[in-house]
Amino acid sequence: MNIVQTAQIIKEKLQGKHPQTAIILGSGLGALGQELQNSITIPYKEIAGFPQTSVKGHTGQFICGNLSGQEVLCLQGRFHLYEGHPATLINEVILVLRELGIKELIVTNAAGSLHTDMPAGSIMLIKDHISINTPNPLIGPDDEKYGPRFPDMSNAYDEKIRAQIKSLAQKQGITLYEGTYFLSIGPCFETKAEIKMLQTLGADAVGMSTVPEVISAVHAGIKVLGLSVITNLGTGLQKEAPSHQETLENAAKASKDLTNLIKSYLGEKTHG
Ligand code: HPA
Repeated sequence: MNIVQTAQIIKEKLQGKHPQTAIILGSGLGALGQELQNSITIPYKEIAGFPQTSVKGHTGQFICGNLSGQEVLCLQGRFHLYEGHPATLINEVILVLRELGIKELIVTNAAGSLHTDMPAGSIMLIKDHISINTPNPLIGPDDEKYGPRFPDMSNAYDEKIRAQIKSLAQKQGITLYEGTYFLSIGPCFETKAEIKMLQTLGADAVGMSTVPEVISAVHAGIKVLGLSVITNLGTGLQKEAPSHQETLENAAKASKDLTNLIKSYLGEKTHG
């Protein structure tokens, strides 16, 4: 993908809007896009060279508009490694966002819980991730223009933003868990033994997205806020294996809280 040219096509379609925050909407969380005011929709298929999504529940379009007084750019539909996309393609998508002037990225996802006391329908604020030995989006020649060869990941999920989100959740009476997200490449769900391994490794939730986007964003100097909607307990922690349908239903339940949290966070940026 030609980063500059692709960004230019999108810029022209944004009709003078200059969003600085992008929100990637995960499985079943696309409804937030409908809350945007004065919005413009740009289907990915209208952007020459831009990849297409193939997952049910992932529409495949940008929506740009106002949310709580901020101009935001929502990605309704993301690119997963299990669809066969190379990790480097995810890096290119993030570099397009950077080229558009995005300074902060809010990533949302559906994830499985690794604790029986973090049930389906919960929200988990991501404080860190584990993804050793999965394809890294930065593999390949490094372009110093975008970021360093060996980026620091010690504050990948910005601590100040996390503190703000925790305080907002408390004010609104939203129960917010905080934990470490493990990237499982998918598309199959984990085995029982794998879930036990992830618990031992210190992970709190498992999902099939987010990590490549976050690595690219951190590398490119974009601040990150990550929120998981817990749609099921990991394999073996509940009686029946999770289905994609169950994932979508539980996401819908928690998405109301998640939407309120994101809206109040953006509102605070406007007024603070
Ligand atoms: N495992 C991996 N990815 C997921 C899960 C899960 O249990 N639930 C939602 N996404």
